Amino acid sequence: MNLTHDELSWAQSLSEKLNEKYAQVRERSAEKIPYIAHDGVHDNKLLDDPNWWTNGFWAGLMWQQYKATGDRRYAEVARFTEEALDKCLEGYLGLHHDVGFMWLLSAVADWRLTGNERSRVRGLHAASLLAGRFNPAGTHGFIRAWNGNWGDNNTGWAIIDCMMNIPLLHWASEETGDPRFRHIAERHAATVMEHFIRADGSSRHIVEFDPETGEYVDDFGGQGYEKGSAWTRGQSWALYGFVMSYKHSPKPEYLETSRKVGDFFLQNIPEDGLIPIDFRQPAEPRWMDDIAGAVAACAFIELAEICGERRYLDAALKLLRALAEQHTDWDPAHDGLLTHCSAAYHNENDRHVNMVYGDYFFVEAVRKLCGDGAWLW
Ligand code: GLY
Repeated sequence: MNLTHDELSWAQSLSEKLNEKYAQVRERSAEKIPYIAHDGVHDNKLLDDPNWWTNGFWAGLMWQQYKATGDRRYAEVARFTEEALDKCLEGYLGLHHDVGFMWLLSAVADWRLTGNERSRVRGLHAASLLAGRFNPAGTHGFIRAWNGNWGDNNTGWAIIDCMMNIPLLHWASEETGDPRFRHIAERHAATVMEHFIRADGSSRHIVEFDPETGEYVDDFGGQGYEKGSAWTRGQSWALYGFVMSYKHSPKPEYLETSRKVGDFFLQNIPEDGLIPIDFRQPAEPRWMDDIAGAVAACAFIELAEICGERRYLDAALKLLRALAEQHTDWDPAHDGLLTHCSAAYHNENDRHVNMVYGDYFFVEAVRKLCGDGAWLW
């Protein structure tokens, strides 16, 4: 769907600012795997948690910049992460359902953009790990979330976030010609449509199933405000996740679900375009999460294209304008970009901070508007 001349000029002005900023940030963070920029300086998860679920996003951001600018230095910095993550693949035990985020944006991106064979093998290895987390019990089965660090009884837990990891399974089937990975992705998505997406288009965060029978046991508010609420990042994972599933496997029910979740999100965007942590949180304090806005913007741009509906593109522009004008640190001397990212409603330490995955999705959205980004999902 086409932008007007003014909208395109605006997107290109953001692109120029991103190029100026990341030409400097990439040098300071060339041998880091950042998560949060504290006081303008990226931390380094490689030192304390190489298995951390966001560890692919810095590489993904570098690959988006590489695709847009053609500057090979971005590829070199991206490969630092990709190679550092090999010890996680070998270690196996610390890994989880987020291997999609970690390897789609690092190794699979490298394979897609440069044809590096070693990267393809890393991606297939990660896809096999994700497929190995599938529990076939029940009508459709589900991919198990986490590894017991949320309590002792989470063997039957699945989470909405995993919709963003299953593109790794679709990719593996497309890559190998073997449909078994796709079958798992489709069965997990069927469970999500049945048990996570509510009649009003909102999504639950965590659903517990009996790991022996696959029957629904309970659901939890997770990173949102409370049980029954609508954690906004979870809404955006559901929205973009079903858009991605539709792009890999064009089933009408995936498009229908992404529109249903998208319409719920759209109806709840506040006047100023800044997204709360939970659409059902109390009005005060006004805790916000920029990541939800950036992810939803990416999804709305794709949905506008798929459906040919301008209202989705308008929603994306509203979200991005709000971030770019009110919550973005454009200073190249500071490592972080978005300023009001929040890990969870009840996590008081990590609210209104910078987080690398918010920055990644903001960059992906700007690249989509400029038409110079990479499809890494
Ligand atoms: N996938 C975890 C989160 O969105 O915080």
